[in-house]
Amino acid sequence: MSGYPPEMQESIRLVESTRLRRLKETFTAMTLDEREAILKGFHPDYKDETFHAVRLGVSKGQRMPIELAQVVEGRPHIGPDFDVSAPIIETDVLVIGGGGAGASAALLAQEQGAKVTLVTKLRFGDANTMMAQGGIQAADRPQDSPPIHYLDVIGGGHFTNVPELVEALVVDAPFVIKWLEDLGMMFDKEPDGTMMEEHGGGTSRKRMHSARDYSGAEIMRTLRDEVRSREDDITVIEFSPAVELVKDDKGQVIGAVVMNLETEAYHFIKAKAVVMATGGGGRLHYQDFPTTNHYGATADGVVLAYRAGAPLGYLESMQYHPTGAAFPEQIVGLLVTEKVRGLGAQPVNKFGDQFVYPLEPRDVEAAALIRECKERNHGIITLTGQPGVWLDSPMIELIHGPGTIEKALPAMVRQFGRFDIDIAKEPMLVYPTLHYQNGGVRLRADSSTDVPGLFIAGEVSGGVHGHNRLMGNSLLEITVFGRRAGRAAAAHAQQMTWGTPSLEHVAQWNRELEENGIDTGVVAPILLPDYARKG
Ligand code: FUM
Repeated sequence: MSGYPPEMQESIRLVESTRLRRLKETFTAMTLDEREAILKGFHPDYKDETFHAVRLGVSKGQRMPIELAQVVEGRPHIGPDFDVSAPIIETDVLVIGGGGAGASAALLAQEQGAKVTLVTKLRFGDANTMMAQGGIQAADRPQDSPPIHYLDVIGGGHFTNVPELVEALVVDAPFVIKWLEDLGMMFDKEPDGTMMEEHGGGTSRKRMHSARDYSGAEIMRTLRDEVRSREDDITVIEFSPAVELVKDDKGQVIGAVVMNLETEAYHFIKAKAVVMATGGGGRLHYQDFPTTNHYGATADGVVLAYRAGAPLGYLESMQYHPTGAAFPEQIVGLLVTEKVRGLGAQPVNKFGDQFVYPLEPRDVEAAALIRECKERNHGIITLTGQPGVWLDSPMIELIHGPGTIEKALPAMVRQFGRFDIDIAKEPMLVYPTLHYQNGGVRLRADSSTDVPGLFIAGEVSGGVHGHNRLMGNSLLEITVFGRRAGRAAAAHAQQMTWGTPSLEHVAQWNRELEENGIDTGVVAPILLPDYARKG
């Protein structure tokens, strides 16, 4: 029995009829000019009318999606008269965010002798790290090197990346893989014990390390276990999102006000240094796209760091993963890992024809899927009006042998199997989905920002990936910059001296809102997605 309705099965027959021919053909990648043209025509970042230039703050004029601008220009939860004289906790390093970047920062800060408090909005590990599937890049083979990895990252990012951030990313990468393995991460290995490594879109070498298609979950398990095992020095407080950073009269960040989600009470946590690792904002659903992101991904860190005076960058650039699930309705937008294409599955239209090289850089691949559906009308439209094209997963079994899918893609098998779709036998219907925030808070290579005492790591930051991130460089970024942030924050904590706590930046923000006549009607950060209001 197939989970697909009869009209979709008819198209699947066409996909099956062309499969053996397509296996033998080679489909070439686009030229640079073709890539540029398809991006301009079809990538959501080029829909000017869906962007807004932010009207206040240090990066006034920064373009970003309208939905993000509404929260960035929002009103604070607390006023400048909130009492910051009596913190409930005093710590060396406060880490805000319970994903891979936050956990890495906590571990490295602790290793430098800091007492660490980690606060997280939901449960420890409720984060995009946990949802990441395909893998983590690192150039650790003889035929590869950090400089080659560097060129791939810069090329994928349209040569707009901040060079010293890319250097940090690729140079630390092999050490991070060893660090994770030493902490107990179970990487996929060949029978002789060497790491299995695959291609991702835009990579010139096979350097994608994985743990099946649960790579992010396995990284999070490893880091979370390690943090938990250091509970004498690292305190984890769940269900406590930050709603404002606190500064002192010297302009340093010295902690944050957090909300207890159960009581809705606000509390001040005082710290000598703060690491912001709150992740992205997919739950703002730019241009009404579904998302791969976890429930708490509402761009909180961008809002808070910006209000505290940290410049933003690259927020005009969002990543739409080419292959989100497009059927069945219950899983629309969930990730179908790029590893599926890495293993040989081709994107195919409703007639069974391949229309794009499977491993173009992500933005180009996504634009090609949108063009196939919206301009050429060669996609399937489901009963709920969702467009999609086929991702011909059964090819993987023909290329690598029977049983490969169950072994390499167990998460995918289960995601679709629950709806009677056997991806070893039938293709998946896919369409681009909002996946990643390429931009965010600007940082230096040591993870510091322009605001003393504030350090940044992970998806909340901007500049590492330029205007397009390649697969596997996000799990790498969270660990590389999480570690750097933890180390730098601990060093800052050792030498800083306190000033008087102050919320003058909140007063200043409120004044600017008023002077510019801005009222988006939003109290920010919004903390959880506003599905009820959207109806
Ligand atoms: O396709 C994927 O598995 C996603 C990986 C990533 O965004 O790095």
